[in-house]
Amino acid sequence: MTPAQAQQRIADLRVQLARADELYYKRAKPEISDFEYDEAKRELADLEGKFPQFASADSPTQRVGDDRVQGFQEVAHRQKMLSLDNTYNEAELRAFHARLAKLLGTDDLGYTVEPKIDGLAVSLTYEDGQFVRAVTRGKGDRGDDVTANVRTIHSLPRQLHGAAPRLVEIRGEIYLTAAEFERINAERAAAGEELYANPRNLAAGTIKQLDSAEVARRKLEIVLYGLGYCEPAVVESQTGLQKKLSAWGLPVVEKSWTVHGIDAAWAAVGELDRLRHGFAYGTDGAVVKLDNVDQQREAGATDKAPRWAIAYKFKPETARTRLHAITIQVGKTGILSPVAELEPVLLAGSTISRATLHNEDEIRRKDIRIGDLVEIEKAGEVIPAVLQSFPAERPKGAKEYDLFAAVGGKCPVCGSKIARIEVAAEDATGVAWKCQNYDCEAQRAGRLGFFCSRRALAIDGVGGVVAAKLVELGHVQDPPDLYDVPHGTLATLNLGTAEEPRVFGEKNATKIVAAREAARALPLEKWLYALSVPEVGETTAHELGRRHRSFAELVDSPLLRAVLQKAERVAQREWEAPASRKNPAKSDEDKARRKELCARLEAEIAALEAGPLAGVPADIGPVVAASTQEFFVSVPGRRLLKKLHHLGIDPQGTVATAGVFTGKTLVLTGTLPTLKREEAEQKIMAAGGKVSGSVSKKTSYVLAGEEAGSKLDKAKELGVPVIAEAEFLRLLAGG
Ligand code: IVH
Repeated sequence: MTPAQAQQRIADLRVQLARADELYYKRAKPEISDFEYDEAKRELADLEGKFPQFASADSPTQRVGDDRVQGFQEVAHRQKMLSLDNTYNEAELRAFHARLAKLLGTDDLGYTVEPKIDGLAVSLTYEDGQFVRAVTRGKGDRGDDVTANVRTIHSLPRQLHGAAPRLVEIRGEIYLTAAEFERINAERAAAGEELYANPRNLAAGTIKQLDSAEVARRKLEIVLYGLGYCEPAVVESQTGLQKKLSAWGLPVVEKSWTVHGIDAAWAAVGELDRLRHGFAYGTDGAVVKLDNVDQQREAGATDKAPRWAIAYKFKPETARTRLHAITIQVGKTGILSPVAELEPVLLAGSTISRATLHNEDEIRRKDIRIGDLVEIEKAGEVIPAVLQSFPAERPKGAKEYDLFAAVGGKCPVCGSKIARIEVAAEDATGVAWKCQNYDCEAQRAGRLGFFCSRRALAIDGVGGVVAAKLVELGHVQDPPDLYDVPHGTLATLNLGTAEEPRVFGEKNATKIVAAREAARALPLEKWLYALSVPEVGETTAHELGRRHRSFAELVDSPLLRAVLQKAERVAQREWEAPASRKNPAKSDEDKARRKELCARLEAEIAALEAGPLAGVPADIGPVVAASTQEFFVSVPGRRLLKKLHHLGIDPQGTVATAGVFTGKTLVLTGTLPTLKREEAEQKIMAAGGKVSGSVSKKTSYVLAGEEAGSKLDKAKELGVPVIAEAEFLRLLAGG
């Protein structure tokens, strides 16, 4: 691999991992399995090792994930919450032991082996034995305060039994049992709501609910296994800690092993793998920890993970079965996705008869043919994946799969032409076939479901099944048509068949009507996202939504024009550069002319950057700009705008207006008592101000909270006024 190739691959992996992190930690909706994630992370770490010139402090290999979401107060952990390094085979586990043996100067090391619980990490604070706070891991040093939600967990004592330290942070994992997971999903299915992929995601989604009453309806569970800050110190070993936690009345791991040496530890890992399916929580590995606390301290930790503990990840479960057929699903963007129809087989506790095949490239790469014996994997996702085929056991005459031929060159839903397109990470990677008909029933249903999904307008109750039915019966063409569907029609909607009717019902209909009315007031960014404008994802919608006042302004956006103007000039400058390789200068005269031209282009680019594009993030690039402009002049785009107009829906952008901070620049530092950083930033921008990351003489105010650092010192040094949150809120209120 050349350095240039490595650099490209590193960049790709970072984007892929950043997206996976966002989906896993913030949205509780991962799209790739933990195994694939870990593989990507390893490849990245490997490349960064081989090509240190491309290493970077903010690479996903150098930090722990970030689970913080809006709406919760942020709290600092007294002791940082670290992650664990992973190992995948015996040799790696033995290497962990060898490192410790060298570091501590002895081979005779005591370990505990515990289940690695597949939940979400939380830190509980008890003061004088009294439960006072629960905080998520966040980004390690500070997380979201989820105390109210954690209080709904019945098995958690409010008061520790017996003698307790003055102040202690106790670390553990929140989870849902498989039975509770299925109960909730069944309820959601009946109400036409989106299903959760696995217990872990549902637990994570639940703990980040702002409505604690809703949380109380889902039976969260907790298990504790570690200590953070503790004053005074209480234990000398991990085994001792487990006993202590248990004596305090806290739920602890069902089984753990205290062993000597790595051979015994490895044997315990094997035993755990055999027993773990009987546990109340999902487990995805074993955690091997040095037992002795003094030795733990001596081994220390990196920024990310302790050196005294390691996770050994179990391989996801797999099974073999026969592939009977490949069917095609059409998504909201029209992309045709192949699905494996399988001989039903039992895997990880459920019967599997379908699996995803991602795309045609993957079918080729894995040489999967209809009739093949295949190996499937279930790694937590709803739809399991096909891992590989066994060509040696292939039925005679099984032909290579050709998607285009299989569908006769037509969309299997609407019969329109399909085209080959390049796709980005959003739907699949590589090349795909796409139905070209915007009004295809499958696309319509997909867009309606998306429109109503939680990240979009949150019209709970309209999941995939209901959306498909509304479109099938002709009630909805474009998502906004949902507003014209009468309550009575919704209530009597038959989601079953004529023989076995399953009526949607009054209660669900009422819920939808209320939710769609509430959605009218949502800001432009939500509506823009909800309408499935090509290339406009959530971040882009957010950035566009705070730079435009309305759809009308967006349709004729000077900002988007400027983005395209800049892109044109950049391309032209590249082409005209006197040293251009593709277009070499023909003479000295030509060279001089082009030099002048480039200087002019340079000045124009600079003027755009300083003017209309000032502060515009890279998310709003030429692809987004062109796509947005095109969409709103296209027939479907105009049709959507017209419908919104008829419905009296005119969402407002969150554009900064003139206010107390107009012309002022503020810098934030430390933790504020009630406001989150994002909230404070929004308030500043809404009041016309700018937020900057560093203090200079031009800074108007430094807004400082608890544990403010060097920015506060700098402010004092430069004589910049420092204000606390109370003062800040007073200024905003016009005081
Ligand atoms: S100890 C200092 N023990 O796995 C590191 N972690 O992938 C403390 N986890 O962040 C971690 N079961 O959220 C520990 N028995 C166990 C665990 C466990 C699950 C989680 C924990 C950690 C993550 C790392």
